[in-house]
Amino acid sequence: MKIRVTPRGAARLLAHHPWVYKSDVLEGPNSPGLYPVQSTKGVLGLALYNPVSEITVRVFSFTDAGRPQEVLLENLRKALQRRKAAIAQEPVGGYRLVHAEGDLVPALVLDYYAGHGVLQVGSAALEPLTSELTEVIRAEIPLQSLLARNDQKSRSLEGLPLQIKPLLSQVPDSVMVREASIQYRVDLQEGQKTGAFIDQRDNRIRLQAFKGKTALDVFSYHGSFALHLAQGFEQVMAVDSSAVALRRALENAQANGLTNITPKEANAFEFLREEEKRGAHYDLIVLDPPAFAKGKRDVERAYAAYKEINLRAMKLLLSGGILATASCSHHLSEPLFYQMLAEAAADAHRTVRVVEKRSQGWDHPVLLNVPETHYLKFAILEIV
Ligand SMILES: C[S@@+](CC[C@H](N)C(=O)[O-])C[C@H]1O[C@@H](n2cnc3c(N)ncnc32)[C@H](O)[C@@H]1O
Repeated sequence: MKIRVTPRGAARLLAHHPWVYKSDVLEGPNSPGLYPVQSTKGVLGLALYNPVSEITVRVFSFTDAGRPQEVLLENLRKALQRRKAAIAQEPVGGYRLVHAEGDLVPALVLDYYAGHGVLQVGSAALEPLTSELTEVIRAEIPLQSLLARNDQKSRSLEGLPLQIKPLLSQVPDSVMVREASIQYRVDLQEGQKTGAFIDQRDNRIRLQAFKGKTALDVFSYHGSFALHLAQGFEQVMAVDSSAVALRRALENAQANGLTNITPKEANAFEFLREEEKRGAHYDLIVLDPPAFAKGKRDVERAYAAYKEINLRAMKLLLSGGILATASCSHHLSEPLFYQMLAEAAADAHRTVRVVEKRSQGWDHPVLLNVPETHYLKFAILEIV
């Protein structure tokens, strides 16, 4: 059985974008699975298919050579092999082993935390292959345990249940992960996402280069940037709205022998407004908010929210101060992100120099054909 798509769907696949939406599928099987895709022009590739999902077709090979399941598992194997050297160098580090479409294994995320794997399956076509996927993972990467953290809300769009279950051995509640000169505890079972935000790893390490008196880590999660900043700054405040995450921020500070991190539970918008009101000043501020734009229709509102926090941060910084600011929403494109920052600088009446434009870590690969894979923007800016 094959999937047949419209000329518009075919044009996307010919441009090597892997998704075809429901409205561009002319006919296909009744149940989810791995199938060849074709149009009147011939075969376009091999895909994960789910007739109930809005993203009905997710291509993992742009030819029809090979048996679909074997090709998919080979893509997985190659993704794991690309990370092997990094794991061998730092076995107790944190890495993304599989970055879904970015690794041509659509809808699959696998993160590695010091020898423990956390898997997220986001397609009903992939779910029945969980044991085959686990076998390949086991064969390629030495893992002490593997957990399926299938509790992401997007699974309901695929008609999949939300569940968390161990796939290999007994999974610990948490593990310590090393990141350059610091270590932090990852809550595997209940932490946000798969337990941590590995995409910012290299950006966190990069900020170790800065020194000063006061730093602010806003949207800190479990003290992530703060732990690195506490080595070069006298006082660091870690701000987040999650009391649970901040409790771990304090434990993480203690685990690193750091006594200069102050956790602060607050809504970042209110906190920054209050700081401005009381005339506070800082040498460095990190802003790493959650994705404000979850869909295209949110972009305008999200733009205003990003601008508000960046404008306030620019006002709070001393001359020569550093703003390290991020957006993880792929709906806010890189040009829009920098336009928003330029408007914030103008409205704050500050001259702002771009020190460095950065992005997500190397283990979150970007496909030029798939703009959605480039989601993280990270700017290091200097207030002149
Ligand atoms: C993208 S994560 C930050 C990741 C973190 N910087 C890291 O490197 O691990 C966003 C964080 O913002 C927090 N958060 C969400 N909305 C917030 C708000 N309005 N005020 C403060 N924190 C918020 C979440 O609890 C989460 O920890």
